[in-house]
Amino acid sequence: MSTRSQWGTRAGFILAAVGSAIGLGNIWRFPAVAYENGGGAFFIPYLFALLTAGIPILIMEFTMGHRFRGSAPLSFRRMNKKAEVVGWWGVLVAFVISTYYAVIIAWSISYSYFSLKLSWGSDTEGFLYGDYLKLAETPGQIGSMVPGVLFPLIIVWLLVLLILFRGVKKGIELANRIFIPALVIIFLIIVIRAVTLPGALSGLDAFFKPDFSQFFSPDVWIAAYGQIFFSLSIAFAIMITYSSYLPRKSDLTNNAFIVGFGNSGFELLAGIGVFAVLGFMATTANVPIDEVVRGGVGLAFVAFPAIINEFPAMKELFGLLFFLSLTLAGLTSLISITETYVAGLVDKFNISRTKAVLFGGGLAAIISLLFATQGGLYFLDSVDYFINQFGVALIGLVEVVLVVWILRKLKEFKNHADGISDIRLGSWWTISLSIVTPIVMGYMMFGLFKQNILREFDNPTGNYEGYANEFILYSGWCIAALALLVGYLMTLPKWRTNVEIKDEEEYIEDKEAK
Ligand code: ALA
Repeated sequence: MSTRSQWGTRAGFILAAVGSAIGLGNIWRFPAVAYENGGGAFFIPYLFALLTAGIPILIMEFTMGHRFRGSAPLSFRRMNKKAEVVGWWGVLVAFVISTYYAVIIAWSISYSYFSLKLSWGSDTEGFLYGDYLKLAETPGQIGSMVPGVLFPLIIVWLLVLLILFRGVKKGIELANRIFIPALVIIFLIIVIRAVTLPGALSGLDAFFKPDFSQFFSPDVWIAAYGQIFFSLSIAFAIMITYSSYLPRKSDLTNNAFIVGFGNSGFELLAGIGVFAVLGFMATTANVPIDEVVRGGVGLAFVAFPAIINEFPAMKELFGLLFFLSLTLAGLTSLISITETYVAGLVDKFNISRTKAVLFGGGLAAIISLLFATQGGLYFLDSVDYFINQFGVALIGLVEVVLVVWILRKLKEFKNHADGISDIRLGSWWTISLSIVTPIVMGYMMFGLFKQNILREFDNPTGNYEGYANEFILYSGWCIAALALLVGYLMTLPKWRTNVEIKDEEEYIEDKEAK
């Protein structure tokens, strides 16, 4: 077996991990989630989820990938023969996410271009759903391919696959070294402009004002955990894969803190930027702020263009910078999401990276075409909801229970991380993973299953009014179940690479180096 690829530098790894974490989730999901779940009061469950689940699981995943030196399936297989399926499950969930994530980046590219001429006009909603997406009448209808989405989608996949062809150091690391600093600079410009707009303060006031009335509602806590998992890129195979490319001597715990706080810092910045702009909009239109708040698609592609129309000056430039930042944030995350299955295929079948990128990435690109059809947005909406709740969040719970309670690996992991990290893991880490996270998430998942099986929910993402729950329910359930089923099927073929860790030579080298 050839030697495993490695990051060139520590900064390179951190930038790649931060690049994975900072994504569409930070810019368009977080601000609205925080606002809808109690504004300032949301920060308590959010911080609780970050400190007792997000960062502890990130440390656990970094340790797992580093210790077992493999993609998620290989790492789980090396940890225990029967655990392989959990690794593939995460990879399959990542695969599904990549198929629609790419499409949102494609929209962002189109909108970067539209910004130059403010092509969306005054009816930004009609422009998005009608002129641009040519949205089908009813959910479930596929309709024809939408060329305006298809072309940028092809660009997205070509770019991502090209970067992945080039490998870990010359591809992923290099791309993040360019994209992440560019993203941070662009975003800072956006936020500075946003907070200096008239009315910005009223937006910030709405964002930060705590509303404790919802504090004890389980939905608020589910939202906080869901946000942390998706945003930190944990529990869908990514961070295990990325840390498997770390050199032997790497400070795992410290890196996890940097990535965790870096991601949340950016998230907060995005919240400030978005709400300052919404405050401006509310003041200009003389309406209460809750009439202008939206999440997801509605925020980025309907509200923002409308707000840009009202800008005092340099509308085109602001639009371009905003959609470019979405594109960059999305691309660095999509690279990491796609790398999970590229690495999984390379490890399992001992094929070249080129073949794995062509096969895995190619298949994802083909499936993503479904979301570039007239019915694409409906599919996207339902798949996104289910794959996050019954993919990412559920895997998070299963992973923690497996490592801590079934395989009892926590002590081994702690020794591994402590042996190479500056910060030592205290009882905070152990208690968070062994008690707090399983209880809180177990309770949460129980509630979620009940809600969805009993069909008590309606329009989860709130993007479209009045479309049949049945559609969301069945297509969403099917995809979430399929990820687990295909994950299981992937465990059946024989491993073509050695599942034993053969690194004695390097180990000796390391000892001598000390
Ligand atoms: N962590 C990535 C995001 O927030 C997937 O979008």
